[in-house]
Amino acid sequence: MSAFNYMVSKTIMHVPSPIVRFFAKDYVAGPSIEDAIRVTRELYAKGVMGTLDILGEYITKKEQAIPFKQECIRILETIKRENLIDANLSVKPTQMGLLLDPEFAYDNMREIVAKGAELDIFIRIDMENTPSLVDTLDFYRRLRDEFPDHVGVAIQSYMRRSHDDVEALSDKPMNFRLVKGIFIVTRKEAWVDPKLVTRNYVELLDQMFGHGAYVGIATHDEQLYFEALKLIRKYKLKPEQYEFQMLLGVDPQLRDLIVSEGHRLRVYIPYGKEWLGYSRRRLLENPNIARAALKQMLKGK
Ligand code: FDA
Repeated sequence: MSAFNYMVSKTIMHVPSPIVRFFAKDYVAGPSIEDAIRVTRELYAKGVMGTLDILGEYITKKEQAIPFKQECIRILETIKRENLIDANLSVKPTQMGLLLDPEFAYDNMREIVAKGAELDIFIRIDMENTPSLVDTLDFYRRLRDEFPDHVGVAIQSYMRRSHDDVEALSDKPMNFRLVKGIFIVTRKEAWVDPKLVTRNYVELLDQMFGHGAYVGIATHDEQLYFEALKLIRKYKLKPEQYEFQMLLGVDPQLRDLIVSEGHRLRVYIPYGKEWLGYSRRRLLENPNIARAALKQMLKGK
């Protein structure tokens, strides 16, 4: 790790919010749903689909879940009204109160997925940190029983248990977003060596395709793009049987390349007032963002 990256990783939680905002502005659509819709339209014009996400997580009081749930339903209604074809919604279980009361959170999630099914819009359940993992998979299983075509879940390749989790869900059609994983995890629960996280990603993708799952291949790692192409060929998949996914603002060149090669691609479009935690995580994950922004600032751009 370079000295600059080390400095970012050690100080990011204490950096004042206006500075974080400067570094992270490309990674969040803006404070309001209108910003998210504008960005969705811009991407759509380039042949890219969107998944919208209202920022906010780890609520500490149940009443905080209600406005988030209402906003999720508003997103679904807006997607329908604005005819944003193929756009969908990503939801974080801890935003719905999972760590306070799992059944309360489940009821909130169910309401959202039921609305999605009514409007024919897909809902992706994000995977968060380890204490929420078992309940999140349980939510997926129960919601999938009721709304099989309108819900999917994220699986993290750093988790040692992911292979078994996928196997346990394979009794019915599955819809996954496969990611490396972004939260701080212990060695006991997760592979720590990045090379193993990448290898496990390929193993899991093979396993998922082998079971006929629809997979959102969510990565900016070109090696994984290479490996995914090999598996797509191995299973003779048609473009509508999988999609690639990337985060807003990350490597637009790779994004355009994937689209130009005939694959479906979806961008995660976060918006909202609670951008600080999300932006800090992005900076911590990739201090190169800070380096690039600093260079632009010094050039006076
Ligand atoms: P890696 O981290 O190796 O990055 C590959 C290259 O991409 C880097 O070298 C860098 O150049 C570039 N890059 C990656 N991240 C960047 C960034 N933030 N800014 C700038 N450049 C960057 N995680 C999770 O635990 N639960 C979830 O539900 C989700 N959901 C999710 C949705 C979508 C659409 C994506 C793309 C990612 C997630 N993630 C996630 C995050 C995921 O776990 C992972 O942390 C990031 O995707 C980074 O991993 P990569 O596979 O891109 O590889």
